[in-house]
Amino acid sequence: MKNIVILISGRGSNMEAVVHAARNEQWPARIAAVISNRADAKGLAFAAAHGIPTAVVANKAYPSREQFDAALQQVIDGFAPDLVVLAGFMRILTPAFVEHYAGRMLNIHPSLLPLFPGLHTHQQALDAGETVHGATVHFVTAELDHGPVVDQAVVPVLPGDTEASLAARVLVQEHVLYPRAIRMFIEGRLTIDNGTVQIAAAPGVPATASA
Ligand code: GRF
Repeated sequence: MKNIVILISGRGSNMEAVVHAARNEQWPARIAAVISNRADAKGLAFAAAHGIPTAVVANKAYPSREQFDAALQQVIDGFAPDLVVLAGFMRILTPAFVEHYAGRMLNIHPSLLPLFPGLHTHQQALDAGETVHGATVHFVTAELDHGPVVDQAVVPVLPGDTEASLAARVLVQEHVLYPRAIRMFIEGRLTIDNGTVQIAAAPGVPATASA
């Protein structure tokens, strides 16, 4: 059994999607903990209701980013994680923290990276006149919203879209994309080769299909 620790700051809908997929698909992994930097994160109640240990490490209680990250790392490591999943975790991470989880920390970002890192991605896509938008799962590196891409989901931008309508369309895809990527990690199918993610074939599926 592998241990997954999920970090959230708010709603936690991606965390919910991962919890459901892990259980329904009987992954060889447990959600060992859901940890938030905010005590009021809505997702904590869902996790607790599903019997998942929760913890709050409040960033406001620490005078520096380094001290907060060190405290968070200690709590995370108490759950012996094989994988740390950032799911709407609204914090900029220190290089030491990122390095500690190198190759075992994933993030989902609501844009087709490298387009639109940072915040307000849906509005950015609308303002840029994009015809497609989406979400990206990537390994976390020290540079914000960069790092080797595992997978992406694409949605159309439709006439009359607002930030909210576009965000909702992307979110539906995030809930498919993120569990699928995490499952590949858990199955040991992801390797990072020179900054690029290689995905091994699923067990029992030939690496290349012939026509
Ligand atoms: C998602 O759009 C995710 O891509 C971004 O923050 C949002 C979190 O939503 N990183 P939720 O908390 O998972 O519902």
